[in-house]
Order: sequence, then C-alpha cells, then structure tokens
Amino acid sequence: MNFLDLKDISERYMELVNPISAEKLLRIGQVMGLRPGQRVIDFGCGYGEMLRLWGDTYGINGVGIDVRAAACERARHKFARMGWQDRFEIVQSRGEEYVYAPASFDVAACIGATFIWGDFRGTIRGMREAIRPGGSLTIGEVYWRTALIPPAYARSEQFPTEPELFAVARQEGFEVGFVVRSSQDEWDNYEAGNWRGLLDWLAENPEHPEREEVHRHLRESQDEYTRYGREYVGWAIYVLRKQP
Ligand SMILES: C[S@@+](CC[C@H](N)C(=O)[O-])C[C@H]1O[C@@H](n2cnc3c(N)ncnc32)[C@H](O)[C@@H]1O
Repeated sequence: MNFLDLKDISERYMELVNPISAEKLLRIGQVMGLRPGQRVIDFGCGYGEMLRLWGDTYGINGVGIDVRAAACERARHKFARMGWQDRFEIVQSRGEEYVYAPASFDVAACIGATFIWGDFRGTIRGMREAIRPGGSLTIGEVYWRTALIPPAYARSEQFPTEPELFAVARQEGFEVGFVVRSSQDEWDNYEAGNWRGLLDWLAENPEHPEREEVHRHLRESQDEYTRYGREYVGWAIYVLRKQP
C-alpha cells in the first residue's frame, strides 16, 4: 500500500491535515488582509479546509490542487454542500505540473506539502510567479526544534532548522512577515487523529490482504512520534512577502 493510500485511510475523521487549528489559520488570513473577491491558490489542498475557512470568514475564492482523487472528491463535495462550486475549483493534479496564469492570485499557499517541489526553496520558486504585486506566499513546513538531534533519527529524517528557512526565504527575495506555530496539543491532535482512522479501518477490515501493513504503519508512526517527533520536530506556517 503506498503512502497516499494510507492517508486515505488514516484521515477519515480529519478536515485539516496538519498540526494546526482553524483559529490559527484564520489568524494567518487576517494578517494577510484577505477580503472578499481575493483569489487564493492552494497546492496540496487536501480536503480544501483552509480554502473553506478563508472562504467563509474572508469571502475569498480560488483553486485547490491535490494529487489524490479521494481528497479532491471530498473537497468538491464540501464546496458543493456550501453552494460554492463556482467559487472554488478543485483540480486533481500533481502540483508541480499545474500551469497557472502568472500574477493571478493574491495568495499562493502550500501547507504541509513542500515535498511537491522537494523543499522550502523549491516551493517558493514553484509558487512565486503565481502572486500579484503585494501578494503573499504562505508555506507550512516542518523544522528541527533543536540542533541536538539523536544521530539515529537525524539519519532517517532531514529537516531544516528555522534559521535555515528564514535564510532561504531571504535568498529567494522574500521576508518572513508572520508565523504561527503548532502547539503540542495541535501535534497530539493531528497524530492521534491519524491513529484513530487507522484503528477503525483495521477493526472494519479483518480479512483485508494489506491489513498487516496498515497495522505496522500505525505502530511505526506511534513509535516515531513518541520516541522522536514529539520532542524534536516543529511545524509552522510562514507568511512570505516580497522584499521591499
Ligand atoms: C499533509 S497533507 C496537507 C493537506 C492540506 N494542505 C491541509 O493542510 O489540510 C498533504 C497533501 O498533499 C497532497 N500531495 C502529495 N503529493 C502531491 C503532489 N505532487 N501534488 C499535489 N498534491 C500532493 C496529498 O494528497 C495531501 O492531501
């Protein structure tokens, strides 16, 4: 079973697929001065929840792109239920292959999906042409919380530190204008939300041929989180603005 199929299973109860609350996403939208009629493009949009929140509170419209059919379907249903099918387009595509009209969005966002372009720098480069003058890039990214990472873990995961993220933003012609950071509660809620979905699937699929693999994934993700992730991995959303 590939990683994206496992996500379809684990995320059944989740709308936001990151360690962040709706309140903090709304704060980001407020800081960026989102207002009715503005356009947002969201790469790796998952179930479209950030677009929905910003649509509901700030009146934006836009485009969400996700590679997973199941995620796009859930997002489209959500917008159809809101009567917003004309306000938000959900496109099933690899984000890095999606061709957008340059300078046609007020915000380009990628929240927890910088692997689309490989890393934080690639994400800035992949999205920078999408925004109008005065627009923002909004990127959710993991980082090492400390320089003292146990070697066994540092060998399996390679994350940037926050000073490195800031340096990359500056080298690419941006300043970090705002940040919201995950709390421990938000991390727990995100991780445990995945376990809940996996456990319910295991209970419902006693004969499934890939059951052992799903069970192993559950335990490995719990062990990784309690041994290392909880202590050493941070997550934040950064708002980037072009250097004046
Ligand atoms: C951690 S989730 C974040 C979802 C959403 N941004 C949110 O905060 O709720 C990452 C998303 O990226 C999507 N994804 C993975 N590879 C992708 C690609 N190459 N292009 C577009 N989306 C991709 C996954 O399907 C998944 O929904």
